Amino acid sequence: MPRLLDGKLVRDQILSELKPRIAALHSRPGLAVVLVGANPASEIYVRNKVKTCEDIGLFSEKITPPATITTDELLNVIADLNARPEIDGILVQMPLPTHIDSRRVLLAIAPHKDVDGFHPYNVGNLVSGNPGPRACTPAGIMEMLRRCEIPVAGKNAVVVGRSDIVGKPMALMLLHQHATVTICHSKTADLPGECRRADILVAAIGKAGLIRGNFIKPGATVIDVGMNRLNTPAEVGAVFGDNAAKRAEFEKKGSLLVGDVHPLEVDQAGAVTPVPGGVGPLTIAMLMANTVAAAEAHTARS
Ligand code: GUN
Repeated sequence: MPRLLDGKLVRDQILSELKPRIAALHSRPGLAVVLVGANPASEIYVRNKVKTCEDIGLFSEKITPPATITTDELLNVIADLNARPEIDGILVQMPLPTHIDSRRVLLAIAPHKDVDGFHPYNVGNLVSGNPGPRACTPAGIMEMLRRCEIPVAGKNAVVVGRSDIVGKPMALMLLHQHATVTICHSKTADLPGECRRADILVAAIGKAGLIRGNFIKPGATVIDVGMNRLNTPAEVGAVFGDNAAKRAEFEKKGSLLVGDVHPLEVDQAGAVTPVPGGVGPLTIAMLMANTVAAAEAHTARS
């Protein structure tokens, strides 16, 4: 059986290392979280982010405009947050409703308050290897690899998914740590074959159980970024066939949470992240780290 990479353990390490840095600041770091509309998954993520702020002593403010807000109105919300000195970090939860111009919104966040690392200025810093905030999920994965002593230099890393939030920054971070990196996506000709070359396989494509046993090289480290909820018997059947235990679990719970990696087909992996409890906690830990770093930089400027 593969080694389980426990994201909660790594999160707790990261958060406990932040505590003395928070205590050394003369005011509490402040994070503003903007959640537009009512997306149930986003609501859970935002709730966890706000709760973690409370747990470690950060000030947080949740702003919840209705889904009908216009791009210009949202830009005004951002401008207000940019101007407030007690707000060190601004996070706009993605995805935004489709009528909103996400690019303009991300561009409006002051780069020094961009704790997601999504502003083009900070993306440029990532590409060129300059210091700056890094996208939280891939940064958390790099922390996990480092702290779990999984070597990256010289390894074949395959990233499945090319999103701005995970896939692209993940590939760059692995590259900076000297992996040989391949990015796969929905048009990749031979996805199983590409994945089978991976010593480190990162699945961030948002399709339940897409990565099957025959995609995994024996001994590989498999990082599962997916969080897919199966809500109907048909969805459960599409991933698990007629597996009685999974059907029974679905009947009991009403839904199943499944990553992008098929959870019953990872035996030959060397190490895997569980879903939940793998990558999710790391994303929040790195958001806290980025917020504390933004507050430290703010203090240094003033
Ligand atoms: N949606 C999914 N992941 C993220 C994230 O890391 N940050 C933001 N802002 N939105 C997300």
